[in-house]
Amino acid sequence: MSTDNRPIGVFDSGLGGLTVVCELQKQLPGENIIYFGDTARVPYGTKSAKTVQKYAIEASYLLTTHNIKAIVIACNTASAHALKIVQSKFSIPVFGVIEPGVAAALAQSKNKNVLIIGTSGTIKSEAYQNRLSEVSESEVTIWSQACPLFVPLVEEGMLEGEIATQIIRFYLQRFQKTQVDTVILGCTHYPLLKNSIAAIWPGVTLIDSGIATANAVKNSDSFEKSENRNKTGHTRYILSDFAENFLKIGQTFLGNEMHHLEVLDFEHFVVSHQSEMSKLY
Ligand code: DGL
Repeated sequence: MSTDNRPIGVFDSGLGGLTVVCELQKQLPGENIIYFGDTARVPYGTKSAKTVQKYAIEASYLLTTHNIKAIVIACNTASAHALKIVQSKFSIPVFGVIEPGVAAALAQSKNKNVLIIGTSGTIKSEAYQNRLSEVSESEVTIWSQACPLFVPLVEEGMLEGEIATQIIRFYLQRFQKTQVDTVILGCTHYPLLKNSIAAIWPGVTLIDSGIATANAVKNSDSFEKSENRNKTGHTRYILSDFAENFLKIGQTFLGNEMHHLEVLDFEHFVVSHQSEMSKLY
């Protein structure tokens, strides 16, 4: 069987997408991965759709200069605003996190009462909500809640304890009185709060879009032909800024060591590729 050594390109607004990388490494251990974290321009979750679309095109373009075979948009906000645009501009397979997360939620929810949580941008875009109503075969009751304090909480490493518990309760407690049986963790950072959410809300099913996305990549038709079955894959990390604490935070997201890390002057990259990129905007 043929094998394709070209890396998978993955991007996120910062370090959060490493939760998706972690799952790709587990489910596709032979793959080489090139990760771009836009640490200079994070957060995407509070920015307009137009700005996030521009950023997503620039990040995708950067990845394609590394001879990649597919793009994974690990960022939920970028998937919500820019998946279709990126798919239409680049000729390789492009995966987002929303479709896999929705499919997993519908498969696991018993009563089809699903709560979506994410950044303000993701929730306002209604991308998860639209996808859920589009693909559900039966009536689905959709609830949604932006949880803007979850990202800084995770980045401060406060994954459990009193403050984490209070903040989780602040956003989610009211849904415990509803019929919701499944929650989509619609942000790269939220899987790291899984244990704390489960402790407060026992019995609810938590959908980790990272796991669902890695699974979708692995099982996609386009990927079947190009899977790297050779040996142990390598992951290379490119960041647009050297964020303080980034190794510590990055390794928490990843659950393993980060090797091959570099910082790129992305502003300079964008300016020097303006003529190619202007055709993509
Ligand atoms: N990566 C973003 C997401 O998944 C969260 C962080 C941000 O706001 O940029 O939506």
